[in-house]
Amino acid sequence: MFDELKEKEISYIDKIYDLIKDKNLTATVVTFGCQMNAKDSEKLLGVLEKSGYRIIENEEEADFVLFNTCTVRENANKRLYGRIGQLKNSCTLNKNKIVGICGCMMQERDEVDYVLEKYKHVKMIFGTHNIYDFPHLLYDILSSTYLDKENKKVIEVLAKTDVILENLPQLRKYPFKAGVNIMYGCDNFCSYCIVPYVRGRERSRDASDIIDEVEFLVRDGVKEVMLLGQNVNSYGNKLENSISFAKLLDKVSSIEGLSMVRFMTSHPKDFSDELIEVIKNNKKIARHIHLPLQSGSNKVLLDMNRKYTKEKYLELVNKIREGIKDVAISTDIIVGFPTETDEDFQETIDVINKAKFEQTFTFVYSKRTGTKASTLENVSTDAEIKNRFDKLLEVTKNVGEEQYKKNIGKVFTGLVEEKDIIDGYLTARLSNNALVHFQGEKSLIGKFVELELKESKGFYYNGSIKN
Ligand code: 5AD
Ligand code: SF4
Repeated sequence: MFDELKEKEISYIDKIYDLIKDKNLTATVVTFGCQMNAKDSEKLLGVLEKSGYRIIENEEEADFVLFNTCTVRENANKRLYGRIGQLKNSCTLNKNKIVGICGCMMQERDEVDYVLEKYKHVKMIFGTHNIYDFPHLLYDILSSTYLDKENKKVIEVLAKTDVILENLPQLRKYPFKAGVNIMYGCDNFCSYCIVPYVRGRERSRDASDIIDEVEFLVRDGVKEVMLLGQNVNSYGNKLENSISFAKLLDKVSSIEGLSMVRFMTSHPKDFSDELIEVIKNNKKIARHIHLPLQSGSNKVLLDMNRKYTKEKYLELVNKIREGIKDVAISTDIIVGFPTETDEDFQETIDVINKAKFEQTFTFVYSKRTGTKASTLENVSTDAEIKNRFDKLLEVTKNVGEEQYKKNIGKVFTGLVEEKDIIDGYLTARLSNNALVHFQGEKSLIGKFVELELKESKGFYYNGSIKN
């Protein structure tokens, strides 16, 4: 559908290659935020590498530095500005150095204005909607830097897009596992969340394109894929020849040569019985479900526009645990939502104790401009919220440890992902998403091994290879 556009973008990659091939230039991409951003960064790095850059880690040294930003909570913004400020000196030393910013934060007008005013050394800005146009934008800034020798900036942020352009070059972080976008954007408008504003309306990819991509990845050595979307359970809702997410998952997991399929993120309101059945009947689908709760109070859930109740959520968790043996459930929880009281928080604790999450990601509410919740008055003080957060950490840690301990002594299959920080040790990820540290040869990286779990460390295990 976007063949012409794709050809145009590829032609820019060729032009960049010709322009920089004798310059021995280096580049790096710094990623903030979620799995979607990590995936986007692999695309950005792919373009850079194909264009002739040598990819390095060090942002002080690199000739081209791109920050792929997140804006879901405010502290991400603060961290970014610290890093950008630090690069000023290296830009003075290397006059041709290019610092760029892209991603979710750049979809916000105020942030772009702030960068342009405060950080004059930033020469390139684009958003989430025109990431596919990166080769073109990169060519523009490079030709102004090296050919015209002007001090031009390339700033282009679009309000929305209909373009889904895939299969430009990608540079995968791991050769044996990969993320695959199945949809973009989000239509849920949870009242605290900025994602629908910065990532746009929900758009699903055609199932056949997704399958083609996974088949290509498998031929390229990938054993595990993670299907990515803000709300994978509503996959296909707007497609003409739509299939459900459960059917897509079933199709993907039947691809020969693929060993493990994961997905992220599920919204509890759309989690179907069909999906539970598909996971239950297919061992290639990971025994892990990320199911953000956000709050256990029905009042707060309503104010958050989450469209489920505490009771519905717990019913779903029970159904999942009954249907899928050995499943691990992880969740996200926000404390300090503007209308949350201590009583509401107790409801959240109650759900945690009943749902027994294996892993919980905890966040303090962060006010995001433009969202519905940003107009609400706070009913709690900062000290009250801090107390709740501390309590939340304590409870979720205890519940998680209790769950993890249940598997001590058992044997599980894990995919070896990387070297551990301790010499001679490796880290593997189990189907249920738990990490295991164990002694082993580097040559095992990218392979599946049988591991006996010896000791639980709360959020990981120490184990050993079972011969
Ligand atoms: N404040 C705090 N946490 C947030 N999240 C999303 N928006 C906010 C916000 N404004 C959390 C939610 C979501 C996770 C990715 O980030 O828990 O599931
Ligand atoms: Fe944000 Fe809600 Fe969409 Fe998740 S489902 S991205 S929390 S609006």
